[in-house]
Amino acid sequence: MNNGGAIGLFDSGIGGLTVFREVNRILPDESVIYYGDTAHVPYGSRSVEELIYFAGRIVAYLVEQKVKYIIFACNTSSALSLPVLKRIYSLPMMGLVQPGAAEALRLTRNRRISVIATEVTIKTKAYEETLKALDGSVEVVSRATPRLVPLVETGDMDTQAASAVVRESLSPLRGAGTDTLILGCTHYPFLAGLIAAEMGPEVRLVDPAEATVRLAAKEMAGLELRTAGGAAPAHRFAVSGDPEAFREKARLFMGRDIGPVARVVL
Ligand code: SIN
Repeated sequence: MNNGGAIGLFDSGIGGLTVFREVNRILPDESVIYYGDTAHVPYGSRSVEELIYFAGRIVAYLVEQKVKYIIFACNTSSALSLPVLKRIYSLPMMGLVQPGAAEALRLTRNRRISVIATEVTIKTKAYEETLKALDGSVEVVSRATPRLVPLVETGDMDTQAASAVVRESLSPLRGAGTDTLILGCTHYPFLAGLIAAEMGPEVRLVDPAEATVRLAAKEMAGLELRTAGGAAPAHRFAVSGDPEAFREKARLFMGRDIGPVARVVL
């Protein structure tokens, strides 16, 4: 068992807190270093070159902080940058796509699955290809929903305008006959209530965060990277944008203060 080193998590903003919350629940003894690239959010419509550059800088920073494991708590980076960075680093890294796809296949009854994600994630076809590689008979309906991340980052989630954006974004999926919908962006679970209301009770929503952390926990155990317990975990937060704005949004989401947030520009 390993008692040193935190788990590194990163996202473009607060979406990765959905993964942080699962780490707290499933791996309560583990410390986390969270990096939110809030100066560059949203990631979903940026260029491939920029996104790989950002992820490369963040992973290098987390490695410098001596993390023992990295979870890409951002679907866009999981789909695009993880395969590139895995070829560069020997440090174990986990993304959301494989576990999210496996969880959706476990839940679907009619083998018709829809995926909503950012434009970049949809363009990579990462979910579609992973689902089909796991089960060649599955039908996948993918839809980019770029207007959802700004709703979450601005906190504009409980308004009529937000419901209208969710309705419009999802309208092409209604009637698609899918019984399972992958929330292929870590910001989307914040809108799960609105999304569920729009899709109806027959469609199950999959937030890949839980399956991802469960798989990471298993992999860490196999690599003897799990902390044995005893001391309370110490989490650290850093962002590239406004630390106080992040701290406030995190407080609303987590229902508690996360403590000081540092500004680290990479
Ligand atoms: C974004 O910043 O556009 C979303 C991040 C994600 O794909 O999870």
